[in-house]
Amino acid sequence: MKRGTRVGLITSGGDCQGLNAAIRGVGKALRRYLDNVELIGMFDGYRGLIEGDYKFMEDKDFSGILMEGGTILGTSRQRYIPGKAIVDEDGNDLMPAMLDTYNRLNLDCLVIMGGNGTQKSAKLLMDAGMNVITLPKTIDNDIWGTDTTFGFQSAVDIGSNVIDYIHSTASSHSRIFLVELMGRDAGWLTLHAGIASGADIILIPEIPYDLPKILSAIEYRRKHGRNYSIIAVAEGAVSVTDKSLSEEERRRVKEAAGHSTISYHLASELEKLTGQETRVTVPGHYQRGGPPCPFDRVLATQFGTAAARLIQEKRYGCMVGIQKGSIVAVPLEDAASRTKFLPADHPLIQTARDVGIFFGD
Ligand code: F6P
Repeated sequence: MKRGTRVGLITSGGDCQGLNAAIRGVGKALRRYLDNVELIGMFDGYRGLIEGDYKFMEDKDFSGILMEGGTILGTSRQRYIPGKAIVDEDGNDLMPAMLDTYNRLNLDCLVIMGGNGTQKSAKLLMDAGMNVITLPKTIDNDIWGTDTTFGFQSAVDIGSNVIDYIHSTASSHSRIFLVELMGRDAGWLTLHAGIASGADIILIPEIPYDLPKILSAIEYRRKHGRNYSIIAVAEGAVSVTDKSLSEEERRRVKEAAGHSTISYHLASELEKLTGQETRVTVPGHYQRGGPPCPFDRVLATQFGTAAARLIQEKRYGCMVGIQKGSIVAVPLEDAASRTKFLPADHPLIQTARDVGIFFGD
């Protein structure tokens, strides 16, 4: 008798909204596209593949999860040597263990959902001979080859909501407020949330800020009767002077000054230099939690079902993405090889400038 198709599912790296919607999309569509298909969920990202910790999924596993946050499979981050290997704490290469599970289970393909790090790791699995299809998920929206990732829009909604609520208290107390949003490398989330909620200043990694220029923007607002200022800060925002430092050096500078994040660091300088009370709000992982917004449910469903279609066609080694409204399959080596930073000439940055939002440059 002809053997059926066996597909492994992995959610890896930081979680985000829409992972369960994507799992559901893959599972439900595969069951329709193929007669004899088995889906195997690996627990906690690559750990499940490494340790052979998995479960055979049943139809009921794919029901009732569309609007659930997090991931029913669990996730984790692995140690990764750039471009070389996924390793354990002692530096041992974990690829043989993953290959062993893959071969023992007779898998036809792995569907791997993750952010930039996960895409890079998936490429290593592909190079080691496994069939992989990846889906781009992250609130950071910084994956090359797709215009949007699922999780992003939900986080924009949350980030905007936080800033919306800060307006009234900032105004009542005549304070400067810094709202720090996630995004170590890219400013997509902060830019979108900042525009959506009327932030006065937006600081993102791609546009290093100059402190004196932020001070003049605040002063300008004060002169024009605005008693408060709201600054949306990406966690990876950096000053012109610190731009040349490595990430590690920057962390040390902040820590030496007793500040845990860039916003606290900047807030203490602003308070000192303006004399205006300054506060920081960091919503942190709240941005990644809770149910996906409808947009992300739809996008994750599109990505999941597209992955199922690729499996039906036996087209592996690619990442599903969306470009100009169309679902596409991008070669994994392209998607995994670079980060989608926000271009300084992106039209949305101009839109923000056009309504008077300042970038500190
Ligand atoms: O990559 C997604 C992300 O949420 C980043 O925005 C953030 O810097 C990072 O993950 C936080 O990671 P962790 O959940 O491991 O603290």
